[in-house]
Amino acid sequence: MDPTGYPDLDALLPRLAAIEGLTPDALEAERIAILGRKQGALTALLRTLPALAPEERKALGAAVNRVKQAFEAAFDHLTTGTGDRPEAAAGLDLTMPGRGRWIGADHPVTRVTTEICEIFASLGFAVAVGPEVEDEWMNFFALNFPENHPALDAHDTLFLSEGSSERADRAGGRLLLRTHTSPVQIRTMQSGPPPYRVVIPGMVYRNDPFDPSHAPAFAQIEGLAVDEGIGMVDLKATLTHFVRKFFGPKTAVRFRPSYFPFTEPSGELDIECQLCHGNGCPACKQTGWMEILGCGMVHPNVLTNAGVDAEKYSGWAFGMGPGRVAMNRYGLPDIRYLYSGDMRLLRQLGGTGR
Ligand code: PHE
Repeated sequence: MDPTGYPDLDALLPRLAAIEGLTPDALEAERIAILGRKQGALTALLRTLPALAPEERKALGAAVNRVKQAFEAAFDHLTTGTGDRPEAAAGLDLTMPGRGRWIGADHPVTRVTTEICEIFASLGFAVAVGPEVEDEWMNFFALNFPENHPALDAHDTLFLSEGSSERADRAGGRLLLRTHTSPVQIRTMQSGPPPYRVVIPGMVYRNDPFDPSHAPAFAQIEGLAVDEGIGMVDLKATLTHFVRKFFGPKTAVRFRPSYFPFTEPSGELDIECQLCHGNGCPACKQTGWMEILGCGMVHPNVLTNAGVDAEKYSGWAFGMGPGRVAMNRYGLPDIRYLYSGDMRLLRQLGGTGR
């Protein structure tokens, strides 16, 4: 404010400008020093008024009041609403909305895995898991891969021990990162007598490039049903039921013949492309179909290798890629989005399922 022409008053004006920077304690001390009823500087000046001549009293009284109002306004401005919020004087406003925090969400692959397991649980399938480090016997030979068979080429992986080691000797051959969840079929069948109905989620590893449709580490879900009198119709009906539960009741499915050493006959299951609904688009390479799993009747040699009586029991199995399924559901063009650790994917898909 402008000088008043009264030196005693004008001497206070710099303090008016300074109060903004005061800490809450200093602010209160300054308020008492200026406006305090007993010792305040302005109160002291007002006390001199009665002794003055009427003209002077009026002029000084008006000047003191203007300065007083200016101080009162300044103190009010800083203390109104902040008197009980001392942090405000330090530049903090705790009434501001908080910063949103990333509270996390299930990864899309985890989400579809959970949902897939739930659908199979409603059909009486339990969840089983097995180790990611397997031996050659579990991963290949118990599953009826002939030694040196070309089917092994598609399952190139990282071996954890060259030649033999004590642990590999005790186990069935060299140790490796499992290339599929199928060895857990063997482990399940070795765990007790039939019947078995299990789904087996887990990570698997292959010497594959990290490209739009491959990842060197990816998720699988295995399924296995073994009982007396199980046939191909059980496989087709169960998997078709699963697809229609998961993707919608009208989803078209088709089974194509295929080859796996551990199933006979073997097939692959395609579903109607979820992006173009069968019309053909780049994602389905214009076929209108997307492959989501391999399946087949469990080969009798596999039952025998696992100690199950292949004359009495039969079964079917499937192996599905929940990453593929997630790509279909969320319309992702590249599997690397799922496995690159880029948080933007999770943020965009949120935590809300569909
Ligand atoms: N294990 C096979 C794979 O990874 C998939 C599969 C599982 C096929 C069970 C048939 C039966 O390619």
